[in-house]
Amino acid sequence: MMKHLFTLVLLAALIFACTHDPLFNPLDYQLETRLQELSPGGDINYFRLPDSDDFNSIPQGVGNRLTPEKVALGKMLFYETGLGEDAKYQNGKDTYSCSTCHVPSAGFMPGRLQGIADGGVGFGLNGESRSMMNGYDESELDVQGARALSLLNVAYVTNTTWSGQFGANFVNEGTEYAWTDIREVNHMGLDGLEAQNIEGTIIHRMRLSRGLLDTLGYLPMFDAAFPEFPESERYNRVTTSLALSAYLRTLLANEAPFQRWLKGEQDAMDEQVKTGALLFFGKAGCYRCHKGASLNSVEFHAIGVRDLYQTGGFNTGPDDIRNFGRGGFTGKEEDMRKFKVPGIYNMADSPFYFHGSSKHSLHDVVEYFNKGIPENPDVPASQISSFFHPLNLTDEEVQDLAEFLKKGLHDPNLQRYVPSSVLSGNCFPNNDPLSRAHLGCE
Ligand code: HEC
Ligand code: HEC
Repeated sequence: MMKHLFTLVLLAALIFACTHDPLFNPLDYQLETRLQELSPGGDINYFRLPDSDDFNSIPQGVGNRLTPEKVALGKMLFYETGLGEDAKYQNGKDTYSCSTCHVPSAGFMPGRLQGIADGGVGFGLNGESRSMMNGYDESELDVQGARALSLLNVAYVTNTTWSGQFGANFVNEGTEYAWTDIREVNHMGLDGLEAQNIEGTIIHRMRLSRGLLDTLGYLPMFDAAFPEFPESERYNRVTTSLALSAYLRTLLANEAPFQRWLKGEQDAMDEQVKTGALLFFGKAGCYRCHKGASLNSVEFHAIGVRDLYQTGGFNTGPDDIRNFGRGGFTGKEEDMRKFKVPGIYNMADSPFYFHGSSKHSLHDVVEYFNKGIPENPDVPASQISSFFHPLNLTDEEVQDLAEFLKKGLHDPNLQRYVPSSVLSGNCFPNNDPLSRAHLGCE
């Protein structure tokens, strides 16, 4: 009886809303209701990304309180090609930066199937034209056996890389036995970003001596960002990592239409995009792995996609440790071939999807999940996630869902995160002669 009464009241409320509010749209109502169901405590703000200067709401790393000074410094260093002093050869010197492989206009992805920093030449419009520099052998390139992850919304990534190997806390508690080689950095107790970026500047052949930072003019910015550090410990890879990580934590896709809709702008998404959102959070089951404000999770699943050696990456092969995902780090059989669930904002900015860049349109990505058939024969069926199965979406539903990814989850203004120049005055993201021509730096 109570239940019927409730339905009646609800119906009356709906009819009242329909007749009295010219803006009432049943899709908005359905989506809001569904998001409430998925939110802890029924508060859909769970899905909202904070403003980039709202430091109290952005997840912060252990020992790295966010400050405007750190963010400002990180925003320079991320693009500073002048740090590229540890290149393999002379002609590679000062030609690359973090943003070579994490190109802002490519959604902070490489713009091609694999990033090439030292040993690469050219940029194109979006990173797509980069190739090998004369004099470098394939084995001498700074490349990795997986596509670079996007850096949007990484404040929500507690343990970084596709295997989650960096970061002392959260899912890495209990993995101390595997903290060897580059992972020794985890013993500092930092979270993923702060730990990884200490190693990152070494792997990517960047020099961070006090002398070079002084020559380039960065010492005052380090002084402003790290006044509590004694001078002898102020200008090095650790402080650089803290600044880079602080900056990365502010890279939030908070102007995407879905985000605007969450803030009450009903017209930010059109009918098709809203229909796609309902599928994402409902019938298509994407929400089971892509969760929270950044639609990621630090969980590891095998969905059987191909590896980079199968799609044409440089300097990788069937035995590349990166093919094994989480298992390559933990060594555990149960983790083999399982990859971290990545954030999926601004995927439309670069058409190379999954860790092996095996798909080239968002429509194909959705079709892959819809069919639910693994494409990589190297992945044992026993590892495949039980959430990866045929979804029975119609062609129209596939289209709608792809539209939600393409438009609903696309922040059109990432340029606000890019500095107008770096202190060296060099060209960026790249600074080799061909890139300079492509980027209009000549
Ligand atoms: C040569 C290309 C390249 C360069 C240069 C590069 N990266 Fe990356 N980045 C990658 C790849 C590839 C991955 C994924 C690696 C993996 O999973 O093993 C990655 C992953 C990351 C992640 C992890 C994101 C996540 O969600 O787990 C962060 C953070 C990151 N890079 C920051 C940086 C910073 C900061 C710099 C500059 C110091 C930098 N990267 C330079 C290729 C590059
Ligand atoms: C079983 C958990 C799971 C489910 C369910 C799931 N995903 Fe994913 N998703 C992942 C994982 C894990 C990856 C990375 C896989 C890899 O590259 O090996 C991924 C990758 C992606 C990517 C590419 C990201 C990138 O950086 O290349 C997109 C886009 C995506 N998912 C969208 C969706 C959509 C849309 C749905 C619903 C149809 C969905 N996902 C359902 C786990 C899941």
